[in-house]
Amino acid sequence: MKFINPYFIAVTTLLAVSCTSQKETSSLKDVYKDDFYIGTALSADQIEEKDAKEDSLICKEFNAITAENIMKSMFIHPQKDKYDFALADKFVAFGEKNKMFIHGHTLIWHSQLAPWMEKIKDSTEMKAFMKDHITTIVTKYKGRINSWDVVNEALNEDGTLRKSVFLNTLGERYLVDAYKLAAAADPKVDLYYNDYNLEDTAKREGVIRLVKKIKAAGGKIDGIGSQAHWKLNSPSIEEIEKSILAYSALGVKVAFTELDITVLPNPWDLKGADVNQNFENNAKMNPYPKSLPDSVQNKLAQRYAAIFKLFLKHKDKISRVTFWGVHDGQSWLNDWPIKGRTNYPLLFDAKLQPKKAYNSVMEIKAVKE
Ligand code: G3I
Repeated sequence: MKFINPYFIAVTTLLAVSCTSQKETSSLKDVYKDDFYIGTALSADQIEEKDAKEDSLICKEFNAITAENIMKSMFIHPQKDKYDFALADKFVAFGEKNKMFIHGHTLIWHSQLAPWMEKIKDSTEMKAFMKDHITTIVTKYKGRINSWDVVNEALNEDGTLRKSVFLNTLGERYLVDAYKLAAAADPKVDLYYNDYNLEDTAKREGVIRLVKKIKAAGGKIDGIGSQAHWKLNSPSIEEIEKSILAYSALGVKVAFTELDITVLPNPWDLKGADVNQNFENNAKMNPYPKSLPDSVQNKLAQRYAAIFKLFLKHKDKISRVTFWGVHDGQSWLNDWPIKGRTNYPLLFDAKLQPKKAYNSVMEIKAVKE
């Protein structure tokens, strides 16, 4: 019998370890496996698996993915007769390889449009655009993408419809058309409406009206995605709960699709603050450039614990909880609403280490529900 060096076996086994074959210690996705999917948004670099450490963290902790930017219309449909599916293909392949729930973000959104789309002038052109755009993209990933944000951020804060190139050219019917086109292209995929501040009363009522209208007009809508870009002290747990109950009463799934919690001051909260004033390099507005003090770490951990406790209470209504990014270093909140700050909104720090907030989300499951 040929002798095989045990060291060689150990090394090759280590090299062969992939996402799906990792020997798991406990992780978010395992701890919450009977409750809802635990997702993350992936940057282009993460989709391309450029950093092995990030890649392995993604695989260990999450079982659902959303592309943070690359499926938005300016990237996927840059010119009228040109689609670019290169990164979207990699994103879907990444999810399939790792047996993850794959969410598509987003088909119809007024922002990050390709310049040519902004110039669509009338209803005929817009109808043709929507048919081509939605049908082409949804058909391309039919049976491979599990759910889509069909329409993103169509509402103003008072619950009325936001002015956009879609509303301006087609009127309200663009909403129903979008859901009908998506359902025709893939009848089995779950179709979501996705927006932020959905815990505010006026916007909540706007979403309820919108979903009812789509359903009444024969559109298929399966879920509401609350983006959940939240703060340490708002929205209140009571308002979040009211929304979960109100949305699920419509007979649709509820997902939290872009969860993060800012710990930094907001220029709009400052009395008399001029939002046009230059806040960059202002120490007051960027109080923790090096590290987050324990007192704030604790507040963040408590806030996440309270939120996940509520999610567990309503796990029968919640399909997915997705964080908007893997770690603090990649968060959009480092650059918004003020560029170049250091924010700490997620469960992993910029060095990929779990924070107190991670432990608190894990520990909630150890407490009897
Ligand atoms: O790719 C360019 C890069 O080439 C360039 O050097 C760099 C300079 O600033 O910009 C890069 O593009 C940025 C892009 O993110 C990729 O990082 C854009 O400037 C920046 O505006 C863009 O921001 C994205 C934002 O959507 C755009 O609206 C954020 O990453 C993304 O997290 C954010 O996500 C949205 C959701 O889609 C919808 N809900 C709200 C959420 C947060 O705004």
